[in-house]
Amino acid sequence: MRIVPGPRSAPWSELHLHAQRLAGVATRELFERDPGRFERFSRQGAGLLLDFSRQHLDEMVLGRLLELPEAIELGAYRDAMWHGERINATEERAALHVALRQRPGERIGGAAIESEVIEERSRMLAFAEGVRSGRIAGGAGRPFRLVVNLGIGGSDLGPAMAVQALAHHARGGPRCEFVSNVEGCRLSDLLADADPHATLFVVCSKTFTTLETLSHAHTARRWLSERIGAAQVPAHFAAVSVNHRAMDTFGVHPDQRFKMWDWVGGRFSLWSSIGLSLAIAIGREAFSALLEGGREMDAHFKSAPWSENLPVLLALIGVWNINFRALPTLAVLPYEERLWRFPAYLQQLEMGSNGKSVTLDGRHAEWPTAAVIWGGPGSNAQHSFYQLLHQGTPGTALDLLLPAHSSCGNEAQHALATASCLAQAEAFMSGHPLEAVREEFAREGLAPERREALEPHKVCAGSRPSTLIAFPRLDPATLGRLIALYEHKVFTQGVIWGINSFDQWGVELGKRLAEQLLASVRDPAGQPATASGVQKVLERLAEWRAAP
Ligand code: F6P
Repeated sequence: MRIVPGPRSAPWSELHLHAQRLAGVATRELFERDPGRFERFSRQGAGLLLDFSRQHLDEMVLGRLLELPEAIELGAYRDAMWHGERINATEERAALHVALRQRPGERIGGAAIESEVIEERSRMLAFAEGVRSGRIAGGAGRPFRLVVNLGIGGSDLGPAMAVQALAHHARGGPRCEFVSNVEGCRLSDLLADADPHATLFVVCSKTFTTLETLSHAHTARRWLSERIGAAQVPAHFAAVSVNHRAMDTFGVHPDQRFKMWDWVGGRFSLWSSIGLSLAIAIGREAFSALLEGGREMDAHFKSAPWSENLPVLLALIGVWNINFRALPTLAVLPYEERLWRFPAYLQQLEMGSNGKSVTLDGRHAEWPTAAVIWGGPGSNAQHSFYQLLHQGTPGTALDLLLPAHSSCGNEAQHALATASCLAQAEAFMSGHPLEAVREEFAREGLAPERREALEPHKVCAGSRPSTLIAFPRLDPATLGRLIALYEHKVFTQGVIWGINSFDQWGVELGKRLAEQLLASVRDPAGQPATASGVQKVLERLAEWRAAP
């Protein structure tokens, strides 16, 4: 396929000129000039509203941005992904997460992949239902009351985020907890008061070689074995991996092993059996609705024209902010407490995928790529870091997520959240200009010398660009749509920047070095680390460890 990154395409240099043209214009002026701005710069599709009227752009900018998908042949790349071509060139793999959401008969990835996906999905959902109902139980026949997912990265963040997001759909099943971080304290805290006869561990690891996950799995196996006896242990483990031999060696019963495939990236794998703990938490029907929501967004991404295509528009807005307005970070601000882990999920999805600086043809990418993603739930964040958003110096773009309904039925308090979200969006855009500050002081009758001293502190510049993503309610289908929206945004941006969104060689480097260093950590005197700075720290830590 021809690789033409956006920055080497014709619209790119024109977009720089437009960025200069708009540099001295406040976003509120763009609104004042155009009463139809909301209609012009908002779109609805696949059950979501994308309101980008508070972004710092106008019709000429949007027009040029919308030339990019054609210039880079986005349609051909999208089709290549859908057809299972090996678009993850450095690992010679397809990126077929869309195949995981397919219905029978869709043949995404071909007939063989389709039938494996459907078969494995139905095995996984049957197992999840069995655990929920108590039909599948521990070695002593007791139903599972606690499910502990052992995984990290893509084998943790997706299901962990979704279990929180859909807590209101998780009635009747066991409690599901997630353990990921290598130092083991979370697992130790959980096991402190867990009933071993009623605890199921789900080991999620695409490779089944990941240090964190395997160390937790071994700890869990020891804990069980000491309490319920080795013979009962296999009934308390399920696992998901491409590595069947390793699952076998670990002792996972064939009925409790689920398949993954090389053609799914970890951070895109929530839809597969990696979502087993989620399926146990919310049940078959809700998990199927999540898949259906993802599928709706897939259909939209495939069929909507670029100018109406939500993932493409979200990607283009990101490119505008990152590459033309020099805003290197994106704060994700859900006005829905249950989505509190969504920013962390997007960190892996966006930064793990597009945190790259080499193009597909092996050249240095001379343009910024993925934004730094951060954020937190809206109302809490208002009382924490919004000060920096209103008056701080780092440049940040914002995604605000807002449901129409409360997910807990508290519509009265949800009205407060809605007011907060929309008020903040307006404040980010309009700011608080000097004239408004002066009028306020005049009304308050403030003494003139106080006014002068206070004026600069009260001014908010505004023009902080935000996109509002609104939806009727947070339910499984909506969550599926939201996740797929960002997945396709990430894919589109990767194509625009000409990079491979599906590998992660940087992360692999850190993992390898940690493995090499372990012997020195355990015995710095006998096995000194080769890096002298590291060795000095290890010696200091060893001194502290030796102290009583
Ligand atoms: O840290 C990088 C990574 O390879 C992710 O891509 C992956 O989701 C995570 O590690 C866990 O890997 P695994 O599922 O193989 O245990």
